[in-house]
Amino acid sequence: MAEEYHRLGRSLPARPSKAANRSLLSKRGETRASFVIRDGTPEDVPAIARLHVVTFRQTHGGRGPTYEIREWQWRQAFANADGNWFCFVIERQNGDLIGFAKGIPYTGDLPDFAGELNKIYLLREYQRLGLGSRLIGYVARRFLSQCIQSMLLFGEARNPSNRFYEALGAERLLTDSGEFHGGYGWRDLRSLEARCPIE
Ligand SMILES: CC(C)(COP(=O)(O)OP(=O)(O)OC[C@H]1O[C@@H](n2cnc3c(N)ncnc32)[C@H](O)[C@@H]1OP(=O)(O)O)[C@@H](O)C(=O)NCCC(=O)NCCS
Repeated sequence: MAEEYHRLGRSLPARPSKAANRSLLSKRGETRASFVIRDGTPEDVPAIARLHVVTFRQTHGGRGPTYEIREWQWRQAFANADGNWFCFVIERQNGDLIGFAKGIPYTGDLPDFAGELNKIYLLREYQRLGLGSRLIGYVARRFLSQCIQSMLLFGEARNPSNRFYEALGAERLLTDSGEFHGGYGWRDLRSLEARCPIE
């Protein structure tokens, strides 16, 4: 996630308000219970790639990577379905995908962390409705089912979504000199699981 922000090097767009999105949800006749979270499959690749393009632009501004690039990346990922990584998608009643998250093993040099939240994106109009918490609850449970007890992510220090991680008890990961560059970690995924009901 972080390199994408740094490459763009610009201010991040403002996020929608919770009240506005609640109102849109009710106008569409949807409720929290209208959404299904499930594993993404190779058949979802075109929809995930489209969603990735749109959510990336909404989050970071600019054009971002094209549909063709995202489709290629997701096809490569699903071609290596070795059980080491996973992807959850959020589906509306009409079958459209409105959010996704990807988890991978963490193999970097921070010894306290074993899983990585590699991506998490919801369409703007579905943010602030509790769906992100539900989605991350699925991620925590999947890692725990793989005997992975901890998780980190590499984000961007200026992202308003950092309040989401902090609300869910993540700790800021600081450099040796005490600087914060957008990394967050949960040392105990059981506590994250407890905060994030999946129903
Ligand atoms: C980050 C993201 C996945 C969070 O999902 P969400 O459904 O919006 O978050 P939730 O509604 O579950 O929020 C849970 C809590 O986190 C906090 N929170 C979440 N987003 C926040 C924001 N923008 N500002 C302040 N607090 C926020 C709140 O405390 C919230 O609880 P509350 O609404 O009862 O006050 C979603 O907002 C998103 O897709 N953002 C854009 C993409 C992005 O930045 N991804 C991460 C880096 S790539």
